[in-house]
Amino acid sequence: MVHCCRDSGISVPPVLNSGKIDEKYFFDMKYVHGDNVPHFLNSEPINEINSFINKILSFIKKNIDVSTNSVVNQVLLDKIKEIKDKLKDPRVSLIIDSLSDHLRTNEVVLPIGPCHGDLTFSNIIISRSSAGKVLNFIDFLDSFLDTPLQDVVKIRQDTSFKWTLGLYSGALNNHRMNYVFSFLDDKVDKFFRQYDFYNVHYKVYQIINLLRVMPYSNKEKLDYLINNVNIINKF
Ligand SMILES: Nc1ncnc2c1ncn2[C@@H]1O[C@H](COP(=O)(O)OP(=O)(O)OP(=O)(O)O)[C@@H](O)[C@H]1O
Ligand SMILES: [Mg+2]
Repeated sequence: MVHCCRDSGISVPPVLNSGKIDEKYFFDMKYVHGDNVPHFLNSEPINEINSFINKILSFIKKNIDVSTNSVVNQVLLDKIKEIKDKLKDPRVSLIIDSLSDHLRTNEVVLPIGPCHGDLTFSNIIISRSSAGKVLNFIDFLDSFLDTPLQDVVKIRQDTSFKWTLGLYSGALNNHRMNYVFSFLDDKVDKFFRQYDFYNVHYKVYQIINLLRVMPYSNKEKLDYLINNVNIINKF
């Protein structure tokens, strides 16, 4: 994973120390001085923004290249059943029942291989080096399924659904941000159209991704997520 990052112009802060204090695990990580992504997108020229997204696309492509294909229907069915039982919200149950019918009748083959696991813009810090901007990936997450498609849906959770912008409190130029986000989303979507697994399964996997965020959301966020799922729910 770290090897893949380095090849793509991406860095991961090294762990300096780790251990256990009072039965609790800890680790110390090198502090990265840099910009958050909303601020970067609000202030940098388009060639820097283009190079930023190209590095992310290249990272995910390298992970797809070393992945192997596997049928994942049962894993997905188990995961969404767990969410249905946890949330007990009739609107969510309706979505999950229809998605389960789809998963029982359509084979889903995905590339299984390395991924960041939670590749939203909130987990990228942009620093400067003599060679230019460096993307620092933090907050890697063990996902229920290790697939590079997980990183694609997380990036589009930002470029298409503007997730990280909703968490950002700084002042932004809304007109510019709308333009930049539609540029980024279009670029990500066009890039992954070279892959059948993306063309066939993106929508289903994005719905599962948004469903997975729901148990951690307050009422306002839950309504927002359900609304978004219903917009893309045309599989
Ligand atoms: N190595 C680092 N150097 C500099 N800042 C860091 C580093 N690691 C984390 N941060 C800062 O702390 C924030 C939260 O870290 P992280 O993403 O690891 O945790 P989190 O579980 O997502 O927390 P939260 O949900 O509260 O954002 C990051 O968005 C970043 O601003
Ligand atoms: Mg984080």
